[in-house]
Amino acid sequence: MKNRVADLAICGGPPAFKETLHVGRPNIGDRDALLKSFNQILDNRWLTNNGPFVQEFEAKAAELIGVKHCIAMCNATVALEIVIRAIGLTGEVIVPSFTFIATAHALQWQEITPVFCDIDPHTHTIDPRKIERLITPKTTGIIGVHLWGRPCAITELTEIGERRNLKLIFDAAHAFGCSHKGRMIGNFGEAEVFSFHATKFINAFEGGMVTTNNDELAAKIRLMKNFGFGGYDNVVHIGTNGKMNEVCAAMGLSSIEGMDQVIAANRRNYKQYQKDLADLPGISLIRYDEAEKSNYQYIVLEIDGTVAGISRDQLMKMLHAENIFARRYFYPGCHRMEPYRSYFPHAGLLLPETEKLCDRILILPTGTAIDEGDIKTICGIIRTAIDYSDSIQNI
Ligand SMILES: Cc1ncc(COP(=O)(O)O)c(C=O)c1O
Repeated sequence: MKNRVADLAICGGPPAFKETLHVGRPNIGDRDALLKSFNQILDNRWLTNNGPFVQEFEAKAAELIGVKHCIAMCNATVALEIVIRAIGLTGEVIVPSFTFIATAHALQWQEITPVFCDIDPHTHTIDPRKIERLITPKTTGIIGVHLWGRPCAITELTEIGERRNLKLIFDAAHAFGCSHKGRMIGNFGEAEVFSFHATKFINAFEGGMVTTNNDELAAKIRLMKNFGFGGYDNVVHIGTNGKMNEVCAAMGLSSIEGMDQVIAANRRNYKQYQKDLADLPGISLIRYDEAEKSNYQYIVLEIDGTVAGISRDQLMKMLHAENIFARRYFYPGCHRMEPYRSYFPHAGLLLPETEKLCDRILILPTGTAIDEGDIKTICGIIRTAIDYSDSIQNI
């Protein structure tokens, strides 16, 4: 344990970890079963184009979510682009700025303007009270993001969408295995999009999935992700290549098989962090609703530098020196990254909560790659940094 300031790596002590601890280190499921699946894929000589593993992955996900249609794709970004196009969004679409850049890019890529809305500081998700002032005659939709796997204000967004005649979709990249009012995420809005990128708690190496209960929309999305092919030699729609391949689907299936264990590990880690950080001034850990299903895949700290005596960036620098690669998701906010920063140089005026949060958030490692001892060490370092904040102010 690093109890003295001189022990900290930033003050010259040895790093706490020899190997870097990463946020989003991939969870690897049952290796033998996975390798068996890869052999099966090679034996099948069916590598992509809606093969048996993709079909099984879609069926398993549909059963888990309780939704009519699951459409597996190569990644969530392309899946978002396809959904946006399939439901006919144009002009302007309201999105939070506090999200991964792909949410905004999926719109701008198709020359639709993302109009950035502020977040509710208590939930970190789009603030429904601030949406209506952003609606113009060009607005066609809203994209809510279930950040950290915590559902955004689904009820309020649905009400606004219906009243103002706007289409509503959800970026559910973080929210596989999570529920809202007892119903699984994946059932809301016109459609929802999940990510199975390697950093997500369950992964398909790279992968995405669209879910919807709308038969017509599902059929259209299936066409669009496969170049618009309606059958052999028959293209009936404009399309692109959004297909998931068999190897990714096998990894996705293996991830789903092991999902309960990964969630249990994430929850255990979360509880340990909660215990070890409980009495630290200026540090708060976001909460997950115990009455709902959550995947606990993010350990999200909010740091109030004036109370902790150390800023988020100082703390991050200190942790990096210890080989704990904490991350500032989603700093500095989409509106302060290109091309949006140049397009809307004054967007920040309407995003005070987003900008405040961007300076306070720090994500810590979790998942099956770390254990209780690692967490105790990480929290001990944070405690020492706060206890001796005066001494490390200028390092
Ligand atoms: C909120 C959010 N949306 C979209 C994406 C894009 O997902 P993918 O990497 O599968 O394209 C991510 C990925 O990290 C994300 O965090």
